[in-house]
Amino acid sequence: MSTIGVGILGGGTVGGSLSKRLLDEQDVIALKSGITFEVRRVGVRDLNKERGFTTNEGLLTDDLDRVVDDPNIQLVVELMGGLEPAGTLVERALAAGKPVVTANKELMAARGFDLLKVAGASGVSLLFEAAVGGGIPIIRPLSQSLAGEKITTVLGIINGTTNYILTNMSDAGLDYADVLAEAQALGFAEADPTADVGGGDAASKAAILASLAFGTWVAGDQVYREGIEGLDGADIAFARQLGYVIKLLAVGESSDRGVCVRVHPTLVAKDHPLASVRGPQNAIFLEGPAIGQLMFSGPGAGGEPTATAVLGDMIDAARELLAGTAATPKVQFQPSRLIDFADVATSWYLRLEVDDSPGVLATVAGMFGQHGISIGSVWQEGRGHDATLLIVTHAAPEREMRAALADLEGYGGVTQVAAAIRVYSDDA
Ligand code: NAP
Ligand code: HSE
Repeated sequence: MSTIGVGILGGGTVGGSLSKRLLDEQDVIALKSGITFEVRRVGVRDLNKERGFTTNEGLLTDDLDRVVDDPNIQLVVELMGGLEPAGTLVERALAAGKPVVTANKELMAARGFDLLKVAGASGVSLLFEAAVGGGIPIIRPLSQSLAGEKITTVLGIINGTTNYILTNMSDAGLDYADVLAEAQALGFAEADPTADVGGGDAASKAAILASLAFGTWVAGDQVYREGIEGLDGADIAFARQLGYVIKLLAVGESSDRGVCVRVHPTLVAKDHPLASVRGPQNAIFLEGPAIGQLMFSGPGAGGEPTATAVLGDMIDAARELLAGTAATPKVQFQPSRLIDFADVATSWYLRLEVDDSPGVLATVAGMFGQHGISIGSVWQEGRGHDATLLIVTHAAPEREMRAALADLEGYGGVTQVAAAIRVYSDDA
């Protein structure tokens, strides 16, 4: 049996679950993997905080350099989150020839391209299965099993916190702030939950998925993003009436024109498989000409499932260390060819507060017509000065929809453009 010394940066939700598993289930893991992992240091900020795992003398340290530089540590696991000091520590470990396993999607989306080069130059692996989809195996399938497929579409629900919030708002009519607090208490949310609700967390994950799927590097800040903070419970209810649920959807598309990756609230038809992804669950669809459609789904957030993904990477990294070679296949990324988001076409759901007077609907329809936007359906709720128009359009480029919305906002018959949310359809 081979022994590998492990240093863990971070002992919070994921680092805590992982440390507990490594300490309590060392024998079981060794039986299945042939490797005995010995946790030699866990780096944290607050040495006095209560931890859910046994903290033997000297295990915890607030000196993070000691985790990376300790000669008895051969494998570094980064579970702190954030760009710094995580980025510097990961880079230093890799440069020193230590493989690194991380769950840090923000770091990978911002600096993964360069960090993978450092890993390659040192002949060690940088593994990040847990960075996307929590416990769902998706990074390994994408970079290994599907490396021969020309993937054209990546579509998914890849943030557990927002899906938990939207599910509870939709099914139980619960209040946004209350459900967010619950998601934080359950360990789904990031240390700063604005990354979840603002779409930043999903954008980082979408960038990683798109980079691996399309073989062209997409950085986190190249992903168009909108969050769920501005979402009104009224639209969740109206969407339901019209046969949809609202999800924070990540969409990546690759064609001869280039690549586009985006994250935004989206109406999804109730009978689409993504509509039934509930709570902190995640689901990812991949599409390619040879493989057709694949769906991966499972627990997208939470300490325990994420620790399982980290453990899988640790076993791979340890086997590589023992074999003396970084066996992980290296993806060669092409320079990115991003499509201008203004050219991307989607269908839209609009909620307009209007004055129910003769000619108002015709004028509204005319404004869409002037921008080449075709209306699919219209419903009216109420009458008089406070009528609500619900409109679902056919696919229209962002540029045209933005111009039409500006026209509507300047028209006196429309008191308010109360909501404008994209609608997912297979043909747009
Ligand atoms: P967390 O609960 O906030 O834990 C972060 C840990 O890192 C804490 O132990 C903290 O120390 C330590 N830490 C942070 N900054 C530090 C610093 N500057 N110096 C020393 N220690 C520092 O976060 P988490 O939820 O476990 O997430 C960790 C990583 O996994 C993030 O990259 C996250 O995106 C990713 N991830 C999380 C989940 C999830 O469901 N939670 C799922 C997939 C991926 P203290 O404990 O002393 O504060
Ligand atoms: N905050 C993240 C989420 C954790 O809610 O999906 C998993 O990456």
